[in-house]
Amino acid sequence: MRRYWKYIKPYLSAFIIGPILMIVEVIGEVVMPRLLSNIIDKGVVDEKGIPFIIAMGITMVITALIMMAGGVGGAYFAIKASSGFANDLRKDLYKKIQDFSFYNIDQYHTGSLITRLTNDITQIQNMIQMLMRMALRAPGMLIGALIMAFTMNRRLASVILVVIPLLALAIFSIMRIAFPRFSVMQKKLDALNTTTQENLTNIRVVKSFVRERFEEEKFRKANLDLKENALRAMKVVIFAMPVMTIAMNITTLAVVWFGGNQVITGGMTSGELTAFVNYVVQILMSLIMVSFIILNGSRSLASAKRINEVINTDIDLTDDMAQHKDITVNQGKIEFKDVCFKYYKNNEKWVLENINLVINPGETVGIIGSTGSGKSSLVQLIPRLYDVDQGEVLVDDVNVKDYSLKNLRNGVGIVLQKNVLFSGTIMENLKWGDEEADDEEVYKWAESAQAHGFITSFPDGYNTELGQGGVNVSGGQKQRLCIARALLKKPKILILDDSTSAVDTATEARIRESFNNVLKDTTKIIIAQRISSVIEADKIVVLDDGKIVGIGTHDELLNSCEAYAEIYYSQTDRKVTA
Ligand SMILES: Nc1ncnc2c1ncn2[C@@H]1O[C@H](COP(=O)(O)OP(=O)(O)O)[C@@H](O)[C@H]1O
Ligand SMILES: [Mg+2]
Repeated sequence: MRRYWKYIKPYLSAFIIGPILMIVEVIGEVVMPRLLSNIIDKGVVDEKGIPFIIAMGITMVITALIMMAGGVGGAYFAIKASSGFANDLRKDLYKKIQDFSFYNIDQYHTGSLITRLTNDITQIQNMIQMLMRMALRAPGMLIGALIMAFTMNRRLASVILVVIPLLALAIFSIMRIAFPRFSVMQKKLDALNTTTQENLTNIRVVKSFVRERFEEEKFRKANLDLKENALRAMKVVIFAMPVMTIAMNITTLAVVWFGGNQVITGGMTSGELTAFVNYVVQILMSLIMVSFIILNGSRSLASAKRINEVINTDIDLTDDMAQHKDITVNQGKIEFKDVCFKYYKNNEKWVLENINLVINPGETVGIIGSTGSGKSSLVQLIPRLYDVDQGEVLVDDVNVKDYSLKNLRNGVGIVLQKNVLFSGTIMENLKWGDEEADDEEVYKWAESAQAHGFITSFPDGYNTELGQGGVNVSGGQKQRLCIARALLKKPKILILDDSTSAVDTATEARIRESFNNVLKDTTKIIIAQRISSVIEADKIVVLDDGKIVGIGTHDELLNSCEAYAEIYYSQTDRKVTA
């Protein structure tokens, strides 16, 4: 609860004024029936005449106007406070997710995070709005009407006392049943969003595999599942309404029955009975409001729990403990010392085991190994996308954990294996690497990545709009744009994780050549499938099943490393027969 104070504070005045204005409305509501009974008893029955009725009528109109002002003002401040609250909470949640480490991101589905950011927060926003409008109004009306009813006719009022505990019991049971159902419902909404999000982002893959019907079926199931669970939860709400109405009608009937007898025997005036019936309705209405608050409350509680889950997620990778936050990467030396790493901490098997490796500034290092051997995992430890479990990774002889994440990641440019571009122009995308770069600089680095040529061949050149993820350029073009984007960072260490796999060998050779010219001092790590991509490297690291099985130049490895020789001959053989 204390955590939410931060979101209330900026809107504190609205949070206070709103309910106060609602009290104005409540007072009006409670006074109204009394005025009405006066008109009937004194104006009509006692024949005080038209002037009295007019005077009372005017009083009632004025009261109604004041009530209206209170109601409108109350609603306005409720909306103002709740939307401000939701806006700030959403902003913080978004920021928290931005700070998530790769490991944290692996724990949530994107669809679930989207549901939490949108639907769950809206749920809370609606709840706050409702609370502000009803939290004081319902009990205010309940107490006000009870007092009025009891002062008017104690015996008749006791009828109400029989109904209240019964209704309270009903409300309590409804809440008990509803809460778990709402939790399940939000989870189903998650599942639906995850399916939708996954399908829509990968719609091209779906189409190329002709899996539309299958995906439709998956969506249909998730959709149906949500519908059924929503229905299950809503049934409780649907059931609650008639129960309340029946209780209200029976009570009214009882009051009219007993009260009518009293009017006949002269124990009560007819005006009083009218007012009394009004109060009974108010009392029951306020109870219905309370049950509504509780029902919606249980739904928002489920949402709040889900938001808390995100807020309470420990970000497992921060630079809070860094010893040298001010230093930057200067030389580009990399050292792995007895590094062991795995993604799932309860798995027994290491993804990387006892890695020892030194890479000197300016060296070009190739990494070769079958898929799943741990190449990507190995390089992701350098910019601390994941943390090692044992041993340490040093950059310029400083543990990567001692850098500020900003300085470390600015010094290490990595082109991830699964890389994407963003919606926007090519120019905007490339300037991700360096916002301050001028156009000439962008051209220069695009040239080094062998991208300038094809970019300028587009009718709009650098102003070509890229579709989401860069769908309107070819795979090889996308890879070269990603390389250019990384080059613009002018990193001391450049890591290409299988980033030229879709580029033809001739273009790839030109990229390597330009690297030799313009990135002389940059440490370059190149993960590749093709031996030809790394054949000229200063050293080649051969990975197999998470272990280094060979380090050396091409010639050295060919003679000493069986795994390397195997890969080499398999590729040259293929070339001969092809
Ligand atoms: N984000 C991840 N979560 C869990 N396991 C992963 C993750 N990424 C990779 N792995 C696993 O780690 C192992 C090494 O993967 P990776 O480093 O990507 O290999 P490579 O790049 O050599 O193909 C594989 O068994 C893979 O399934
Ligand atoms: Mg990989």
